[in-house]
Amino acid sequence: MQIFTSLLNSCLNSSLYFIIFLLFFSSFSLLLQWWKHHRHKDKHLPPGSMGWPYFGETLKLYTQNPNSFFSSRQKRYGDIFKTHILGCPCVMISSPEAARAVLVTQAHLFKPTYPPSKEKMIGPEALFFQQGAYHSMLKKMVQASFLPSTIKNSVPFVDQIVQNMVPSWTNTTINTLEEMKKYAFEVAANSAFGEIKEMEMEEIRELYHCLEKGYNSHPLNLPGTFYWKAIKARKVLNEIIRKIIERRKESRNYGGGLLGILLRGGRGDQQQQQLTDSQVADNLIGVIFAAHDTTASVLTWVLKYLHDNLNLLETVTKEHERIRNKLVNENRGLSWEDTRQMPFSTRVIQETLRSASILSFTFREAVQDVELEGYTIPKGWKVLPLFRSIHHSPHFFPQPHKFDPSRFEVPPRPNTYMPFGSGVHSCPGSELAKLEVLVLLHHLTLKYRWEVVGDGDGIQYGPFPVPKNGLPLKITLNKR
Ligand code: HEM
Ligand SMILES: *[C@@H]1O[C@H](CO)[C@@H](O)[C@H](O)[C@H]1NC(C)=O
Repeated sequence: MQIFTSLLNSCLNSSLYFIIFLLFFSSFSLLLQWWKHHRHKDKHLPPGSMGWPYFGETLKLYTQNPNSFFSSRQKRYGDIFKTHILGCPCVMISSPEAARAVLVTQAHLFKPTYPPSKEKMIGPEALFFQQGAYHSMLKKMVQASFLPSTIKNSVPFVDQIVQNMVPSWTNTTINTLEEMKKYAFEVAANSAFGEIKEMEMEEIRELYHCLEKGYNSHPLNLPGTFYWKAIKARKVLNEIIRKIIERRKESRNYGGGLLGILLRGGRGDQQQQQLTDSQVADNLIGVIFAAHDTTASVLTWVLKYLHDNLNLLETVTKEHERIRNKLVNENRGLSWEDTRQMPFSTRVIQETLRSASILSFTFREAVQDVELEGYTIPKGWKVLPLFRSIHHSPHFFPQPHKFDPSRFEVPPRPNTYMPFGSGVHSCPGSELAKLEVLVLLHHLTLKYRWEVVGDGDGIQYGPFPVPKNGLPLKITLNKR
């Protein structure tokens, strides 16, 4: 912290130099910008404002609610417009057809792109960052461990976590987001590692906590910052995973979970291909990362929407009462097949994913000049399919601000509903995430009710939109 204050003081003392520097810097970047645009003058670029030099429209994006940032520009320029964020020229896309082109039909022309600081933290060999043959080999392995036929077997485990967790909330106020993160982490880590010593899991849990804080903070690698601590935690995580890998290889039993699948290796171009230890580690860590905050945010939103719509909560409860009666009669616990008999709850989840659109957009980068709907997207420009804008378009979802699960009684129009993305990089964990919500709803609606503590209507951003303060809820037994 001292470093910042002294830096700030010396800046103020020499504010004259600072102003001169700023003038010089902004005229230089104006020139650079003019040159960059001039270079593309014979191309038909999408409409839009590129904002102030360098700072671009980043400031606006971060100070305004991102929804109004997108919607005001969409109104002015249409479904495809250009802008500048974080110093990069970008094209934002909110037509289903163009989004499909970027993510599915022309996916090979748009590569995934992440800030280098984030890539370093998750591990550069994780599948999100990859394209082509290596990506599809990894993707098959990850998909295999989250197929319905695989996650079927984890229903008793997920059920047990919920049954251990929920009663401890009775008569207390919980930070819903924090509790849901614990739940989603347990499920994700279990599917990633399979069976693992509790002591090791405890260590991994703590390191992950550290990693997550660093991921969401400024990437300043100075001793003491969250980022610095996270990089250290990442190294220790690697060591622990390497030891686990070594043990499994020695015992000639690769074990269960995604780890088991990764250790057995995948089909490469022709023959069976072994992954290196760091490839295995990057992908394990990456999958847990992708599975954890996303699912926790959705779980939090489901409880918020049901709290605000008591008639829907009643209907969900009735659906689960029917299932409970069956379970009591047959004297058994919840099974995968039971979770397939929850159509109303399933529509509540679909509508939650649409309404909250926790992944508002994703990033790609054009690998060459690409023609898209009559415009040219120059090589190197970022392309952002705006899932949220599509999910909130009144053309595809009438009265988009209304929370109305019944709209999913008929399937949405093709390419208008992408809560789990689309194409080669689409989410392999969608079934697991939905399973987690269904199991929680089963136990919570049958026995409990929840009230928001304080003003429950704000939204906090970063990294995902979630209800303000993590949605504090007072949980009580349902008397009936
Ligand atoms: C409700 C919770 C979740 C949501 C909304 C969600 C959403 C998404 C989306 C939109 C993408 C595509 C990103 C892009 O195209 O750039 C994605 C990718 C991914 N998700 Fe999820 N996800 C969720 C839960 C999970 C879970 C539980 C897992 C655990 C298996 C998971 C693992 C992944 C992975 C590994 C990728 C990268 C796939 C690739 O690059 O090929 N996600 N997710
Ligand atoms: C919760 O509070 C209610 C009402 O104050 C009380 O009747 C009940 O026994 C409490 N339950 C638990 C588990 O503490």
